[in-house]
Amino acid sequence: MQRRLTEEKLVLASHNAGKLREIADLVRPYGVTVVSAGELNLSEPEETETSFSGNAILKARVAADASGLPALADDSGLAVTALDGQPGIFSARWAETDGSGAAGGKRNFGVAMERVERELGEQAAGGRTDRSARFVCALCLAWPDGDQVVFEGEVRGRMVWPPRGLHGFGYDPMFEPDGYDITFGEMNPDKKHTISHRADAFQKLVAEVFEAG
Ligand code: IMP
Repeated sequence: MQRRLTEEKLVLASHNAGKLREIADLVRPYGVTVVSAGELNLSEPEETETSFSGNAILKARVAADASGLPALADDSGLAVTALDGQPGIFSARWAETDGSGAAGGKRNFGVAMERVERELGEQAAGGRTDRSARFVCALCLAWPDGDQVVFEGEVRGRMVWPPRGLHGFGYDPMFEPDGYDITFGEMNPDKKHTISHRADAFQKLVAEVFEAG
């Protein structure tokens, strides 16, 4: 039986204001309020794990241990089939232009998308023409007593070139979700938020941990 969240407050292990707003909206109907890691002056650990789930667990664990509150963390990225799942956990790093490796360093997703297209071109030249990909989101809820649970969400689609659309962020202009002929960059953000990898992971979390059962 999945453990339910009975506490009324949780900490979001992220300094991203957009994510905080999205998650606060999502858990409010269940009487849960959210504080950010920033508000509690928690530092962000280095993402040293080799999977989305590993990094989400690491971030949630650190925040729960430091705050004494249940903590929620996510880790996400793009996995391209013909690139054996790359850029994967390095999705943000492929956009770095200053080589710093630091969170908050200079990022240019035009450069990152060009790299994806170049590497897909190299694969295609060798006969591997598959342009399918998926966005993945791992979401971890960790309790201060050491317990934790992790959910993975995904949205499948294909990489297009040239990139299209001005909405969203990251690789959105290059990603056409299955069943649509527009990219995430062209899609209304409200619509994207109902079909995205993050929505998929959140729905699983809410169904398992928040909804009475
Ligand atoms: P993070 O999990 O917020 O650190 O995101 C990691 C990276 O994955 C982002 O910087 C983006 O490059 C990529 N990414 C994750 N989710 C999305 C998305 O919904 N659209 C486009 N890119 C994404």
